[in-house]
Amino acid sequence: MTTLHIDLASHTKDIADLYGIFFEDLNHAADGGLYGELVRNRAFEFCALDNAAYDGLTAWEPLHGAGEVKLSVVTGAPVDSHNPHYLALDVLTAGDGTGFKNLGYNSGIPLMAGASYRFSCYARREQDNAAPLTAALTAADGTVYTSATFHAGTNWKQHTLTLTAPVDDASARLAIIASGAGRLYFDFVSLFPLATFRGRINGLRADLAERLAALHPRFMRFPGGCLVHDGALDDRDRGSQYRWKNSVGPLESRPARRNNWGYNQSLGLGFYEYFLLCEDIGARPLPVLPAGYDPHHRRACPMEEMQPFVQDALDLIDFANGDDSTEWGRRRAELGHPAPFGLVYLGIGNEEVGADFPPRFKLIRDAVKRAHPEIRVIGSSGPFAAGGEFARGWNAARADDADLVDEHYYMAPEWFLAHTDRYRAYPDDAPKVFLGEYASWGNRWQNALAEAAYMTALEQAPAVTLACYAPLFCNVAYANWKPDLIFFDNHRSFVTANYEVQRLFMHNTGTHLLAAHAESDDAPEFPADDGGFSGEIGVEWISADADYRDITLTEYDAASTTRRAGDASSVCGDRSGESATDGCAHTSDGISTAPTQNATTRPLADAAVSETRRTVTLAVTAARRWTLRLTAHETTGKQGFRIYFGKRDATETARRYYWELGGWQNQDATVCKELRSGEPATCLEQQAFSVQRGQSYQLELRADGRDIRAFVDGQQLHSCRDVLPVLQPLYWTASADDERVYLKAVNVTNCEKTLRAVLSAGEANTDSADSTPTSATVAHTALVTTLTAPLEATNSFDDTTVAPETQTSTLSVTATGAVVLDYTLPAHTVAAFRIARR
Ligand code: AHR
Repeated sequence: MTTLHIDLASHTKDIADLYGIFFEDLNHAADGGLYGELVRNRAFEFCALDNAAYDGLTAWEPLHGAGEVKLSVVTGAPVDSHNPHYLALDVLTAGDGTGFKNLGYNSGIPLMAGASYRFSCYARREQDNAAPLTAALTAADGTVYTSATFHAGTNWKQHTLTLTAPVDDASARLAIIASGAGRLYFDFVSLFPLATFRGRINGLRADLAERLAALHPRFMRFPGGCLVHDGALDDRDRGSQYRWKNSVGPLESRPARRNNWGYNQSLGLGFYEYFLLCEDIGARPLPVLPAGYDPHHRRACPMEEMQPFVQDALDLIDFANGDDSTEWGRRRAELGHPAPFGLVYLGIGNEEVGADFPPRFKLIRDAVKRAHPEIRVIGSSGPFAAGGEFARGWNAARADDADLVDEHYYMAPEWFLAHTDRYRAYPDDAPKVFLGEYASWGNRWQNALAEAAYMTALEQAPAVTLACYAPLFCNVAYANWKPDLIFFDNHRSFVTANYEVQRLFMHNTGTHLLAAHAESDDAPEFPADDGGFSGEIGVEWISADADYRDITLTEYDAASTTRRAGDASSVCGDRSGESATDGCAHTSDGISTAPTQNATTRPLADAAVSETRRTVTLAVTAARRWTLRLTAHETTGKQGFRIYFGKRDATETARRYYWELGGWQNQDATVCKELRSGEPATCLEQQAFSVQRGQSYQLELRADGRDIRAFVDGQQLHSCRDVLPVLQPLYWTASADDERVYLKAVNVTNCEKTLRAVLSAGEANTDSADSTPTSATVAHTALVTTLTAPLEATNSFDDTTVAPETQTSTLSVTATGAVVLDYTLPAHTVAAFRIARR
């Protein structure tokens, strides 16, 4: 049994804003997703810069009917110069049903019987003509469900009609039919359900927005991650970074933009709509702006030209918070929202790597702080949980007085369980942690369970202020990135196991953390011996041909491995100057190896990898301590070398590690671990590194217990440890607000675990008879919500296996007045308890 002693009178950390959401328009999360527009490519602006398969007619088709038509996309006299393209419809031969239609997203335009839709378009004719135009909702085979007519003159005019669907059809089309011959022009052809979220014009798809509201997020990070900073620095460029001013004002003047996830973004869901959404769902807005730097393409705005980026930040604060004495506060009021949006947090940069980010961050941060000291400015530590760029981000953020630092990582579920103590060592006076993107690789219950355990630690860590899972949405027909929290098609959605955990935590967290301590009769579960780094060693191709020569493997005496129970620390002291022949090993799971000099070195055959010979096995070793040396040389291609090691028998497990030099656009060196086939790798450590083609590198990889060190030309590049999880009997956290006490407990083990929570006010929080009586002012019942499922379970459109169950549990009162909750958590269960204050 694990007994928790919870002090109801305590207040150890503010956590009112802790759990939020992160919205990025990837996986068609906005256009074709949350944004209510049902017409795809409404402004005929799709182009090959967005996606090689696109052109201005993507998602549009001619309707010849009984005549003949021709569609073309033209420029010259657009509705608005920011969207220069529009449709020319040439009715070559008039006849019934001539015109054009839109295919919508997924299977088509989703209609619901009885629901009304707001159709609008700009139209004009080349020659004046009284022949009417018809807007129709049709089946995919052309059967007309409903229609209405309008007339176009020779000048652009916006026409708006309401169409009511008589049937359900998830694969419908929007057709525009022209009677009479001649040339017509169309732009901004649009169809929205009237029943958008909160009924707003240009609003959001209600069922998806309700999924967000149901989470009760405390903040929303937007408009994205890579979407924000990957792009040209000129805000007028078609492929620019996300510049927020492009996304506000009339739809017609929001310029269409390349979305860096391989599609087009209309910007119809722009910053004003994001702020409204935040307000509607009770989340603090947390916008992220580019810092005049694009690490994807190493574009850096010259420091003396940074003013537009600084001004964007200052104007955004006015747009959110300013009154009508400011230009942008006035604009907000003109858009219909005179009240401020209550902006507190502002992110500068997404996943920034390289030396160019810190000075640009500082420039913007200092300007913001001078004008608005109340705004909490967030810096970046890059896309890795450890290594050189991570350290650079944190060091710069400390030096430049960032209020928070945005950390991002995506890892195997085991990594999360092994690192629940990650933030224990973080100083709590330095910048706070904003865990702006995290997820374990998958949407199985096993992933969500590991995330739940990790979240209890986030909640307790003094350094962690904000945290949000990423990404949020995925349209199943346009997936760029998995896992995600919510999946949808054009008319349905389902929430994942991970969503259920997020919801459980958001619904069951107070404004402040309570002091609590645990005693447990249950021992932690140590991991099974995984063989350390023994196994197959080889080289493989990563889009560059390379050869490897002078290869030797030195293996140290495996028999010298001894178990020293409980000794989880290094036996070597400072390892920075350690030579290749010294003999130490370090593990975090109670296994350490004694020093030994027994070493055998064997030469291995030369190897070359290429597109046609992608993998070469160099050796298989039983040793857990070994050193591999080799000379590597890239001959052709784009990025360097990969050495894999610790690969176990594929019939047992897909586990292996690799050291990659020249990864991600030839900018990185990483040590990674793979655990399951098909699951992306877990990056143990990253360093900035580029491979020069034609240059020879002396590479050395030292595996030692659970530690890896890697050297290039005699210089240490990596030093990292693969920590295995030691499972605690229960992971838990306790918090409160004015109305309730909240307790959460997570059992990740295969056995049921018993929890006793003793709630009392004040220091004497004990169940013993001789303690000072305390009166816990809480009710004697708890509302218990649990989540549990088989570890492999996932949700889908048809199966919501992972779903919460709620029951009431009765509490007892001890002789000392403490209130006691007894509860048994089945294996693999997350439980949340709400207890009302009295
Ligand atoms: O969340 C998906 C992507 O992951 C984000 O765009 C980026 O910040 C990270 O690399």
